[in-house]
Amino acid sequence: MVQEKVRVLWNKKVSSSCYKIGLGCGSKYLISEPGQFIMLRLPDQPVPFLRRPFSIHRLIKKNDRLKGIELLYKIVGAGTEKLSGYKVGDYADIVGPLGTGFSVSDSCRNVFIVGGGIGIAPLLFLALTLDEKGVDLSGSTLFLGGKTGDDILCKNDFAGLKLRVQIITDDGSSGEKGLVTDLLERGIKEKKPDIICACGPFAMLESVARIAAMYSVPCQISIETIMACGIGACLGCAVEKKNGSEKYLHACMDGPVFDANMLKIS
Ligand SMILES: Cc1cc2nc3c(=O)[nH]c(=O)nc-3n(C[C@H](O)[C@H](O)[C@H](O)COP(=O)(O)OP(=O)(O)OC[C@H]3O[C@@H](n4cnc5c(N)ncnc54)[C@H](O)[C@@H]3O)c2cc1C
Ligand code: FES
Repeated sequence: MVQEKVRVLWNKKVSSSCYKIGLGCGSKYLISEPGQFIMLRLPDQPVPFLRRPFSIHRLIKKNDRLKGIELLYKIVGAGTEKLSGYKVGDYADIVGPLGTGFSVSDSCRNVFIVGGGIGIAPLLFLALTLDEKGVDLSGSTLFLGGKTGDDILCKNDFAGLKLRVQIITDDGSSGEKGLVTDLLERGIKEKKPDIICACGPFAMLESVARIAAMYSVPCQISIETIMACGIGACLGCAVEKKNGSEKYLHACMDGPVFDANMLKIS
């Protein structure tokens, strides 16, 4: 984990409220895992006071050398609003890589990746990492869901990978009409996957965890909690554990990616 001031390489709008920002950070990030995150603060900006957590969306590489990381973010409040105004050459202050990411065995052949809205952010990094490790993704599926077509992000970024992409929206404005968990359950009934990896709104994750348990499929979920420090110091990110002597886990250190069975959510 390092703290550094990093240069903004780009900051471009990708939907009505989402942006992709490239940050020129050091080589420490070469060892980061999909699902890990950074805590970001905008220097010289009084608001927000606390750092904000963002998943690593992608490593930026040129000729196998790390040039930086890319984040995918949605404007929801003061911090992300300010971030969207950042220009190439501005500086951000980041700490990372942090947390525990996804752990998918190289032997998996049928991975179900489930993303809801901005929850797709760490999942591109996951798919790219599996591909880079030589995992054959031709038997795997990405289930992409959102409220409307505007929430369906990054589908073209998966185009170079072999996995099947299925899209669904609440209002049917992109792909099928319905919930991403409808697609997931249908997919499981057709062919049970080796593992499910999911990130999205809490209600979606609860449902994914319930379905995974019902069909006995291993499942890892990346959860969002409010995080003040990101490094285990404030204990503000506690999540309730299902079993065991300790009652709580901490999303910033033990997660944000958890085995769905470990948490009291399903
Ligand atoms: C591990 C982790 C990874 C994340 N990765 C991403 C990412 O890749 N892309 C992205 O767009 N967002 C991500 N988030 C959420 C992101 O951190 C928040 O959207 C951001 O902190 C909001 O800051 P703000 O100052 O704009 O909003 P604020 O003004 O702080 O809050 C605006 C609204 O958003 C809610 N909010 C703030 N933080 C969170 C949060 N962590 N979870 C849920 N609701 C929150 C507040 O309750 C409030 O209602 C991640 C969160 C976590 C914990
Ligand atoms: S965010 Fe402070 S302990 Fe997890």
